[in-house]
Amino acid sequence: MPASPRVAPPPSDTLLGSHPAVHRITDLVDRVAAMPVSVLVTGETGTGKSLLAREIHRRSGRTGRFVEVACGSLSETLLESELFGHVAGAFTGAVADRPGKFLQADGGTIFLDEIATASPALQVKLLRVLQSMQFEAVGGSKTHFVDARVILAANEDLASLVASGRFRADLFWRINVVTIEMPALRDRTADIPLLAEHFLRSASARACRLVEGFTPAARAALLAHDWPGNVRELEHAVERAVFLGRGSLVGVADLPTLGGGRGASLTLPVAVGPAACSLKVALTHPERQMIIDALDRHGWRRDAAAKALGINRTTLYKKAKRLGMDLAALAPSVHASTPASPSR
Ligand SMILES: Nc1ncnc2c1ncn2[C@@H]1O[C@H](COP(=O)(O)OP(=O)(O)O)[C@@H](O)[C@H]1O
Ligand SMILES: [Mg+2]
Repeated sequence: MPASPRVAPPPSDTLLGSHPAVHRITDLVDRVAAMPVSVLVTGETGTGKSLLAREIHRRSGRTGRFVEVACGSLSETLLESELFGHVAGAFTGAVADRPGKFLQADGGTIFLDEIATASPALQVKLLRVLQSMQFEAVGGSKTHFVDARVILAANEDLASLVASGRFRADLFWRINVVTIEMPALRDRTADIPLLAEHFLRSASARACRLVEGFTPAARAALLAHDWPGNVRELEHAVERAVFLGRGSLVGVADLPTLGGGRGASLTLPVAVGPAACSLKVALTHPERQMIIDALDRHGWRRDAAAKALGINRTTLYKKAKRLGMDLAALAPSVHASTPASPSR
């Protein structure tokens, strides 16, 4: 599958794929994007739920912000104040009034990710806000009204959570109006080549290294793997192969998490292929190489590697980010069952 660098990359928030399930999803998005209905997106981790939420917002014509809340990452009290805001003195540490995410999303879209984790008390509050778009800040008495489009995502089966009493039936019926189910990557393997090439081009540009495609064996390995981490796992596998591999084609040895062998060589290529690379970018190669060497010498423990490089951990993270390196994705221990942080 040769990558063609001349093709302009699609916008980063476009759901790629030519499988009929993806066509059905894009058709549905076309029909509902501009309507004020809430949308529930379900599917396993890494199937593109967050990506789809951004795409719905982009196509909605709404001029306000897209505001994302990872409901599973906050405690109940913090989440309530995050969503609805709080007034000064509402709790210890609440020194000033603070608007919540619902207000920030006024005129735009609020994306409530991992909705299955919402506590029973919060589910009641969400039901009210979804029904009337009204709420009060924590500790406040003023009722706010917002015009926010609501998109929710769940990677658990909400219907069975309702059946076992862990999710309110009335909230479920309120949000189960337009439901979009994202297929697992193993159920649309025909899209693997297309996605793999897309990630290859993107990583190749960031790594400033011309990688033209995959060897037949690598392509077969990509098609045979069952991708428990779905598109995110594929993205990380390709990214790692591009950043750490040596050849102009990605081989099976560059795809260690697919059982391809010892893993990519930890020597970054010095030669920069004909993919024109500015001097500025080419000069970042030694810096990348030093970071990878240090991480490799210290078993990918980032604090130890940072220390060896004479910088602190935060600086290491900042440098890696500037160099377009995703350390979580590059670490050899990365595995699909440990999805990337929600920030990705
Ligand atoms: N159909 C797709 N086309 C292009 N990129 C995709 C697609 N599906 C997922 N991705 C990418 O895979 C990664 C994981 O997707 P994400 O939306 O975060 O998954 P989820 O929210 O379901 O865990 C992101 O980098 C996203 O851009
Ligand atoms: Mg997500």
